[in-house]
Amino acid sequence: MSETPERVLSRDGVELLVRPIEPADRDGLQRFVRGLSEEARYRRFMHSVTELTESELTRLTVLDHCDNEALIALDDAGELVGVARYFRLKDRREAAEVAVTVADEWQHRGVGTLLLRRLVVLAESHGIDHFTALCFATNADMLLLLRELDENIHRIGSGQGAVEVEVHLPVDAEHLISPTLSAVARAPELRGNPLRRDDEEE
Ligand SMILES: CC(C)(COP(=O)(O)OP(=O)(O)OC[C@H]1O[C@@H](n2cnc3c(N)ncnc32)[C@H](O)[C@@H]1OP(=O)(O)O)[C@@H](O)C(=O)NCCC(=O)NCCS
Repeated sequence: MSETPERVLSRDGVELLVRPIEPADRDGLQRFVRGLSEEARYRRFMHSVTELTESELTRLTVLDHCDNEALIALDDAGELVGVARYFRLKDRREAAEVAVTVADEWQHRGVGTLLLRRLVVLAESHGIDHFTALCFATNADMLLLLRELDENIHRIGSGQGAVEVEVHLPVDAEHLISPTLSAVARAPELRGNPLRRDDEEE
C-alpha cells in the first residue's frame, strides 16, 4: 500500500480513511485511548492504563516510518477508530513487535484485519518478514487476527497469563488487500484454536 491516505470500507460497508500516524495525531490518539473500554485498554497494554503519558504519546506518534510504523483508521468525523503498529526488534532486524487496537464499537467489523494487512505490506517493504506479539493467552481476537496471516503461528514465550507469539509474514501480502473486506472469504479452518502448541501434531 502507498503511504498516502487510502479510503477503505469496513466489513459492513462504512468508509474509513487509513494512513500512517503523524505527530499531529497526538490528541486524537489520546482521545482514542481514553475512549476505549477498560477491558480493551487492559488487553492492549496488559496493565491498568486510563490514558497515555506525554512521553508515550511522543513514542507512539513520532515515528521514523521504517523501524517504527503505525497505521490509523479514521471515521468520517476524523476520529481515530483503530491503530496497528510495529516496532522493529533491536536484536533481530528482520522481525518487529506488532500491536493492534480497535475502538470497542468498531470491533468485529474487519478494521483490525484491514489495518494489519496493510501494515504487513509496509513492514515487508522495510525488510521485515516476521511479526512477534505479546498478549494475554486468552486474547482470542488478537491471536485469530495473527493466525490469519500465518496458520503456523507459534508460541515463543509465555508466563503469567501472557504469551509471546511469532508469525511469518505472507510473501504475497499485497493480494490480501481489498478495499471491500466483504469480498474476502475467510477460510473456515482459521476459526479453530488460534494458538496451536508447538508440540502438537499437524
Ligand atoms: C484484537 C482486535 C484488534 C481485533 O480487531 P477487530 O477490528 O475486531 O478485528 P476484525 O474485525 O478484523 O476481526 C475480528 C473478527 O471479525 C471476523 N472477520 C474479519 N474479517 C472478516 C470477513 N471478511 N468475513 C467474516 N468475518 C471476518 C474475524 O473472524 C473475527 O471474528 P470472530 O472474533 O467472531 O472470530 C480488537 O479486538 C481489539 O482492539 N482488542 C483490544 C486490544 C487488544 O487486545 N489488542 C491486541 C494487543 S497486541
